[in-house]
Amino acid sequence: MSGVETVPSPSILVRDARPEDMPVLQAIYAHHVLNSVGTFEEVPPDLAEMNRRREEIQARGFPYVAAERDGLVKGYAYCNSFRPRSAYRFTVEDSVYVAPDAVGQGFGRAAMREVIRRATVLGMRQMVAVIGDSANSASIHMHETLGFSRQAVLRAVGFKLGRWVDAVIMQLALGGGDDTPPVR
Ligand SMILES: CC(C)(COP(=O)(O)OP(=O)(O)OC[C@H]1O[C@@H](n2cnc3c(N)ncnc32)[C@H](O)[C@@H]1OP(=O)(O)O)[C@@H](O)C(=O)NCCC(=O)NCCS
Repeated sequence: MSGVETVPSPSILVRDARPEDMPVLQAIYAHHVLNSVGTFEEVPPDLAEMNRRREEIQARGFPYVAAERDGLVKGYAYCNSFRPRSAYRFTVEDSVYVAPDAVGQGFGRAAMREVIRRATVLGMRQMVAVIGDSANSASIHMHETLGFSRQAVLRAVGFKLGRWVDAVIMQLALGGGDDTPPVR
């Protein structure tokens, strides 16, 4: 399975995100929208929009999970179609965000391991990360520890917080990758 570990981090519980988690998840994402170039969104989506996005992703059968410790949700991750055209149907793009007071404690990787596991069970064959900023060492390193490899840097495709921002493209083969045809 492409060297991906699925061992959960001790004491971190990863489970489906639920409606009652969304105020916390909205606050986490709003922080990164306003303060980082990890996402190219610039106006934080409100709670209703965050719920709409989660519901749409979960209704399509894709994982949208929350990572908690001692009952406190500190991060979340999900995957969705990489691009809408049909030949991309075995490729997903991941997204992962952790509360600023909890970065570096394993929440991001634990959430991503579950997203990778479930995407693989769904028959997805490639996962793509589009990471805001060449200097986003937290996301780049976290994805590397999950087995992703760097594929490309799109130079200065974003302009946020007063500067040009690169997008780093990383990729992980899931299941059989491209060794075999898809099952369906
Ligand atoms: C990127 C992000 C999701 C990572 O989640 P996290 O919970 O902080 O990361 P983890 O604690 O699970 O760390 C996983 C690995 O990444 C490494 N890492 C974490 N932060 C790092 C940093 N700032 N610099 C270098 N490596 C870092 C960890 O050391 C660990 O590797 P190791 O086992 O070799 O030590 C989180 O930092 C975040 O929300 N960042 C801002 C938003 C963002 O950029 N999201 C990604 C969009 S693609």
